[in-house]
Amino acid sequence: MRLSNRLKAITDFIDGNEKIIDIGCDHAFLDIYLCENYNNIKVIASDIHEGAINNAYKNIEKHNLTKKIDLRLGDGLSIVNSDEIDTIIISGMGYYNIISILNNKEKMINVNKIIIQSNTDIVKLRKSVLKLGYKISKEKLVKDKDIIYTIIEFIKGEEKYSYEEIYFGPDILKHKDELFYEYYNKKLLKYENLLLQLPYTHILTKLHHMRLIKIIKKEVKN
Ligand SMILES: C[S@@+](CC[C@H](N)C(=O)[O-])C[C@H]1O[C@@H](n2cnc3c(N)ncnc32)[C@H](O)[C@@H]1O
Repeated sequence: MRLSNRLKAITDFIDGNEKIIDIGCDHAFLDIYLCENYNNIKVIASDIHEGAINNAYKNIEKHNLTKKIDLRLGDGLSIVNSDEIDTIIISGMGYYNIISILNNKEKMINVNKIIIQSNTDIVKLRKSVLKLGYKISKEKLVKDKDIIYTIIEFIKGEEKYSYEEIYFGPDILKHKDELFYEYYNKKLLKYENLLLQLPYTHILTKLHHMRLIKIIKKEVKN
């Protein structure tokens, strides 16, 4: 199975001994790849839409993995027992959907690792998952068809972060690469233009953008 850059980057967070649920598996490409590459891994692939599950089933069948991948139809964590999983993967969804799925304490009891690629509100996502009793252990920026995505791995635990660490990601800040500069130079331009266009009455929004511009400038110049 050949994966997109985005999905392949998610597999870098896997060591092969996990009991995974991939929530919102859609085509199940990620799950097929994981089962083809790791013998010990346990994978539940789930989706809320019947069409996606049918599609996933066809792909799983084509790869002779119907006995290995446990495919389930339903909403978020409602279709698993807490003792069946220790790792959650959620990718390609928006912040609100992700957080409403993770707000299920009872099913999360044994979940030590959560790997998330959110399409929206990454800063809010960091803050909300930390509040669930997790800390950030690893992060990665990845480019796929000209879009730069952030992938975050949370593990159980507690840690305090600065405003800058929450904004950029503590691990991303420690390992600034080419993508970091590309991503934040683009954001800098966007915020500077926004600032020029905002009417002077929007004082709080202006101040917020000025703060972001200041911290981004500091990091991209370092
Ligand atoms: C854009 S696709 C992403 C597919 C894949 N995870 C990826 O990253 O390429 C999002 C999938 O999440 C599913 N989904 C959305 N909300 C869900 C929920 N609450 N529970 C399970 N699946 C959900 C959708 O049906 C859809 O197939």
